Amino acid sequence: MSEVHVYPVNQQIAERAHITEEQYSDMYQQSVSDPEAFWREHGKIVDWITPYNKIKQTSFDTGHVNIKWFEDGTLNVSANCLDRHLATRGDQPAIIWEGDDPADDATLTYNQLHQQVCQFANALKAQGVKKGDVVCLYMPMVAEAAVAMLACTRVGAVHTIVFGGFSPEALAGRIIDSKAKVVVTADEGVRGGRAVPLKKNVDDALKHPEVTSIEKVVVFQRTGNPVEWDNQRDVWWHDATAAVPDHCDPEPMNAEDPLFILYTSGSTGKPKGVLHTTGGYLVYATMTFKYVFDYQEGEVYWCTADVGWITGHSYLVYGPLANGATTLLFEGVPNYPSTARMSEVVDKHQVNILYTAPTAIRALMAKGDEAIAGTQRSSLRIMGSVGEPINPEAWEWYHRTIGDSRCPIVDTWWQTETGGILITPLPGATALKPGSATRPFFGVQPALVDNMGNILPGATEGNLVMLDSWPGQMRTLWGDHERFEQTYFSTFKGMYFTGDGARRDEDGYYWITGRVDDVLNISGHRMGTAEIESALVAFDKIAEAAIVGVPHDIKGQAIYAYITLNDGVIPTAELHKEVKDWVRKEIGPIATPDFLHWTDALPKTRSGKIMRRILRKIATGDTGSLGDTSTLADPSVVDKLIAEKEKVV
Ligand code: WTA
Repeated sequence: MSEVHVYPVNQQIAERAHITEEQYSDMYQQSVSDPEAFWREHGKIVDWITPYNKIKQTSFDTGHVNIKWFEDGTLNVSANCLDRHLATRGDQPAIIWEGDDPADDATLTYNQLHQQVCQFANALKAQGVKKGDVVCLYMPMVAEAAVAMLACTRVGAVHTIVFGGFSPEALAGRIIDSKAKVVVTADEGVRGGRAVPLKKNVDDALKHPEVTSIEKVVVFQRTGNPVEWDNQRDVWWHDATAAVPDHCDPEPMNAEDPLFILYTSGSTGKPKGVLHTTGGYLVYATMTFKYVFDYQEGEVYWCTADVGWITGHSYLVYGPLANGATTLLFEGVPNYPSTARMSEVVDKHQVNILYTAPTAIRALMAKGDEAIAGTQRSSLRIMGSVGEPINPEAWEWYHRTIGDSRCPIVDTWWQTETGGILITPLPGATALKPGSATRPFFGVQPALVDNMGNILPGATEGNLVMLDSWPGQMRTLWGDHERFEQTYFSTFKGMYFTGDGARRDEDGYYWITGRVDDVLNISGHRMGTAEIESALVAFDKIAEAAIVGVPHDIKGQAIYAYITLNDGVIPTAELHKEVKDWVRKEIGPIATPDFLHWTDALPKTRSGKIMRRILRKIATGDTGSLGDTSTLADPSVVDKLIAEKEKVV
């Protein structure tokens, strides 16, 4: 390994930071030696309607996994994100919206956002939505996406957001699993100068014979282009909100009432509905936002994530608004219409804290100084990274070029399942090492284990697990607690298994090495290999498929597909395109294979299990060390695959 450059804590930042180096050590010690006392105190970061007495009821015992925090307290999320700020920050911007077109922007103050949320909450009620109902949001990046989320929490409905880039089929699958009653969408989305046909996709999804739960579709008018209309079912957002009062009392929710479901990819089967509940999630999102980004009163914070991902939930909407921050919601992409768009938006809105993903950083890095042309970025104070390991070169470029060597970078490691950030530097407390997510947040107890589940001490490398619960942890998989236990608590008994591997250095810093299961990370988006494979074999000309990830300069990983066609089917350029289009239609553009490798046979063991280890090595051209191939039913397939690789495009 090349030598690691250490960046000491920035003293200017440390002087006014919420947490200093010493405080971090003391508080961390306290948080793990007496979690009850620690969270009894810090649970107060949010406002409770009924204060909690119980703090932590959690068990990681396989067969009895049970996670409850602040169990007897009641609260409302929208009241915490809105009402409690009105007296002091009613006229402060809550959301700054920056459109795809640089000429479009808008600001909503806390007063205005509160009013819109109350109105939309009443509109939802008028459409029949009640506490506990599931509402599916399939929205573009407009302020109304946040309004809809908050309105759900106001009436106690459970939202499930589906990323606008997912196909009608993927949307249908999530509606079927969640049994959503209402869909909230827009006529079209706008991204990078292109329209996304959201309403049409909803119409197509609702044609699926198994989608039977949807009663109403509420449509926000974004572009005004014509859409098909079902008078019984469809209602315009502006009509639904026109005739309703702008007062709506927040529904008192139990801490353990469901807040939202968010589907994510796993190593097997269909996407999993990760369930987060109200109290613990909000406490954790609020506290991590404040300390990880060292948020100071009045600052402008920009997270580039889409609301369709967990980052868009915890650190675009809930964490910032619960802290009374100004959060910037950007409709577009970082390099449109100009390569310097991200930097231009920073200047335009005087952004102080920027939170983005390595894939965006690498795409800009490839353009060099063009990415900052004509901009100052002097408002920036702190920058963050999330979604995948950030390579030290990209970290250094981000630090030097976007941040003018002035801003600490928080490389935050976490997952949909963890609700909030678990491993991260704190800007005023942690010396930085480019490429390392550094140290655990308060209350988080990571460990590295070998494949037998033995905890490894000291500087070492292994499977990343968590030994105890934290308030933001997921509670179950929607409707499938058994799969929840199986997926996360059966590999290593009594521990939460993250699916990631990591290294810990002599300073106790964690370096995430990536997934150790069959989950890919494409531009920071999780994709299960099994999901893409099942989409491929559903194509009528394909007999069998195996997916592996290969390194990619900008996306982090690219999708490499081994495909066996049905007897008599000839691989042609047209078929190549057909297969890619098929996956795009079944799941969405992010799942489209980059490489198709036609083959007659896959390497299988005698019991019929595909040896992915070999497929991974062949795909990356690492054929010098294929390891033991003697357990293959037919070892000659390996040489054939290596020869075929020449022709792969
Ligand atoms: C990866 C995104 C290295 C990791 C919040 C994890 C990271 C998966 C980092 C979760 C990071 C996320 N460094 N790897 N800072 N952040 N990951 O559920 O593999 O979309 O398991 O949540 O992304 O992806 P998810």
